[in-house]
Amino acid sequence: MCRNLSKYALLFLFLSLSGFIFLLRNIHTLESWNCHAISAFYQFQTRIHSSLVSVNLPTYNQNLTFCAHLGQKPSPEDKLEEHYLLDSIEWPGPPARFAPPSLRQTSDPVHSLFTILSNKERREWRIGDQLEALVQMNDYQGRPKHYGGDFLLARLHSPELGAGVAGMVVDHRNGIYSAVFPLLWVGPAHVEITLVHSSEAVAVLKHLREHRPDRVFFKSLFRLGFLSETTVCNMCLPSDQHSLCNYTDLYTGEPWYCYKPKILGCDTRINHAKGGYLKHLLTNKEALLFQSGVNIKVQIHASGKDRINVLPPEADDVEKENSSERTEPVKPKPSGYYFKDSWRPLGGTVMRHFNESAVITQCLRNKVINMYGDSTVRQWFEYLITLVPEIKEINLHSPKNVGPFMAVDTTHNILLKYRCHGPPIRFSTVLSSELRYVFNELDGLSGGPNTVVVLSIWAHFSTFPVEVYIRRLRHIRRALLRLLGRAPETLVVIRSANLQALDAEVSLYNSDWYSLQLDTVLKAMFRGMDVLMVDAWEMSLAHHLPHALHPPRAIVQNMIDMLLSYVCPVTKSRTK
Ligand SMILES: *[C@@H]1O[C@H](CO)[C@@H](O)[C@H](O)[C@H]1NC(C)=O
Ligand SMILES: *[C@@H]1O[C@H](CO)[C@@H](O)[C@H](O)[C@H]1NC(C)=O
Ligand SMILES: *[C@@H]1O[C@H](CO)[C@@H](O)[C@H](O)[C@H]1NC(C)=O
Ligand SMILES: *[C@@H]1O[C@H](CO)[C@@H](O)[C@H](O)[C@H]1NC(C)=O
Repeated sequence: MCRNLSKYALLFLFLSLSGFIFLLRNIHTLESWNCHAISAFYQFQTRIHSSLVSVNLPTYNQNLTFCAHLGQKPSPEDKLEEHYLLDSIEWPGPPARFAPPSLRQTSDPVHSLFTILSNKERREWRIGDQLEALVQMNDYQGRPKHYGGDFLLARLHSPELGAGVAGMVVDHRNGIYSAVFPLLWVGPAHVEITLVHSSEAVAVLKHLREHRPDRVFFKSLFRLGFLSETTVCNMCLPSDQHSLCNYTDLYTGEPWYCYKPKILGCDTRINHAKGGYLKHLLTNKEALLFQSGVNIKVQIHASGKDRINVLPPEADDVEKENSSERTEPVKPKPSGYYFKDSWRPLGGTVMRHFNESAVITQCLRNKVINMYGDSTVRQWFEYLITLVPEIKEINLHSPKNVGPFMAVDTTHNILLKYRCHGPPIRFSTVLSSELRYVFNELDGLSGGPNTVVVLSIWAHFSTFPVEVYIRRLRHIRRALLRLLGRAPETLVVIRSANLQALDAEVSLYNSDWYSLQLDTVLKAMFRGMDVLMVDAWEMSLAHHLPHALHPPRAIVQNMIDMLLSYVCPVTKSRTK
């Protein structure tokens, strides 16, 4: 019935309102809106609720790196830093003139093997030694690969001890990889190597990132009185096809655009939402590179033993460790490891355990905790208010899962706030009035010894070229420097990216490979600054529980312990 109505109405509207309605036929989520629109129009034309998206989604010139020309021009120093950062995440891949390979010539985790190398220094393994495993990648025909670029994860763990640590993977660019681990506990240690994506698959992901950043698209609703229209939005839109509304942040030049509604003005935008995910991004041949259980996150077997036993240090080991430090070509520096399922940071922070609500309220007494970012920090907000009943959420009538959210404990004078970061954000319906950039929010904080700022910005940037992320972090970093300049005692904690569950589809938008690239940039850009890091990447990699965009409670608990150990360090609480 809707279909008939829609035809009829289209004709009618075309005649009476000179063709201002266009239906977006190929977007499933918007189809129902159109039906709604037409039915509504029939109700005495009191309400024209039409989905005025262009006939199709915009077609981008996919030869150009997306939006490179948009936003403020970086200063020479910024440009230099950007070069350095992009250099540092440069990823090797198949030879340049590589024709799309057949699956048979690509990396096959089942045909690949790793070997634990024997200890250079002595026969047995002791704490403080370094363990190295060599991985030989082979293709589906069992032939050795001759170039690098496979995305491998390495973990050393002991289920018996609840222990685990992330390994460092070195790509020798000839089909061979080293996975290097520090030995941090006494007892058994198993090596686990996982192929996340073959180098051929990473090449596809890289191409998508540079040329198809429209693969997640956004939309906004415009409304005035009875009129409402919806258009497509993104960080950049081809302007040759329709006129644009320019929502670029005036201060930083962070770009954001929507197609201009046909009737309404740009200032009638009332919300922002995820539009959807483009499908059919891959050729049939490319699709074979992304198969769950075949070449996405599949473990690689050992050619011999996959475990060792680690002994306590010998009495004279301190000196030995010193000498081995000089001879090791690479030295993994994990930020921490699990032991008895508890995270033990290696950066000097002493981990405290905040397992009782009274301890948490004592720690957070008189604090204002401002959380900004994606849903992975919203998860912290939710964890805290669940764990600590005294911190009660106030009903701000915010949309579920979107916010902003606020919780208070008036007895202990605690205020906990969460707000999502600015676009690109793939949340369902954020009101325009609540759509704020983190850097602008930070400029609105007085800061001080009672202010805690917690940031998590990564998951929604994976579909864009890394330059977009660098630019955003640069603006946030400047705002943080201003904040720490006016209130040096403000505590700033950054939550890094984490691993997530991947299947063929999710990989194209949210692959861990994208996250790893962003995470490397994030850590580099805040290194040396007076901000603290919760290394969600290593905390999710080292743990035995399955990877998930929103990590399981056991991991979040460790993250919160880490956060609160920063807020209330051991020494501070003793001297008080
Ligand atoms: C993109 O590049 C290809 C070859 O490099 C060229 O043939 C094509 O015309 C270009 N497309 C556009 C829209 O510029
Ligand atoms: C959007 O507005 C910004 C800031 O005023 C400006 O620099 C930019 O050129 C505008 N974009 C377009 C496409 O006109
Ligand atoms: C370790 O090496 C450094 C210099 O490389 C030296 O100053 C230090 O004394 C050494 N420590 C031990 C325990 O040998
Ligand atoms: C919290 O941890 C302390 C010390 O580790 C322990 O004694 C206590 O029983 C724990 N409380 C809960 C509720 O698990």
